[in-house]
Amino acid sequence: MKPTTQLDEAYWRRRYETNQTGWDTGAITPPLREYFDQLGPADHRQILIPGAGRAYEAEYLHKKGFTNVFVADIALEALQALQQRVPDFPATHLLLEDFFKLQPTAVVDMLVEQTFFCALDPALRPAYAEQCFHLLRPGGILVGLLFETDFGDSSEPPFGGTRQEYQSYFEPYFNFVHFETAYNSLRPRQGKELFICLKRKAAV
Ligand SMILES: C[S@@+](CC[C@H](N)C(=O)[O-])C[C@H]1O[C@@H](n2cnc3c(N)ncnc32)[C@H](O)[C@@H]1O
Repeated sequence: MKPTTQLDEAYWRRRYETNQTGWDTGAITPPLREYFDQLGPADHRQILIPGAGRAYEAEYLHKKGFTNVFVADIALEALQALQQRVPDFPATHLLLEDFFKLQPTAVVDMLVEQTFFCALDPALRPAYAEQCFHLLRPGGILVGLLFETDFGDSSEPPFGGTRQEYQSYFEPYFNFVHFETAYNSLRPRQGKELFICLKRKAAV
């Protein structure tokens, strides 16, 4: 699996500008909605959604009352879409930044993964796991979905993979709370994605 184009800011902005956003489900996906619904009352925990795109998860959490929800994306169009849809989402929580360049402050309580990992050059997967570790506080949670399927065409995202492969990236940094096929995926994704909930280790 090796992308034939550079998956940089220009690539992703072009995808939004030309409306080639097939990943966009138009709403929060059921696995994350159900996970968020069982969190209990909204609070001030710091939540970061990298590669958030139009960020339906951020909208959902914000409307539930979570006050410290941040999104990071390299495509301006993605952040603008959230801002236009949810004008009272705090502008200072919209980070136009490369995930890998975010300051590794180890203060984030929860990182949310939704169709970001699969959009990256697979060569970056070990760095993704490491960056998640450095952003989260000890005991912090990485929650979300990873495709457990083979997409065939391996020149452009999404890139699939196997649970064994993913395990090898996350095991050094996380204890596994959930790591199993999601039972409540959107129909086209049914049986093809893992629901993951990983707890950041205190140290590597
Ligand atoms: C496939 S889209 C998924 C968007 C969103 N999570 C969703 O499910 O609708 C991948 C997103 O990651 C963003 N992205 C790609 N590389 C990035 C990076 N290094 N740092 C931050 N965002 C990135 C893209 O701009 C795009 O919005």
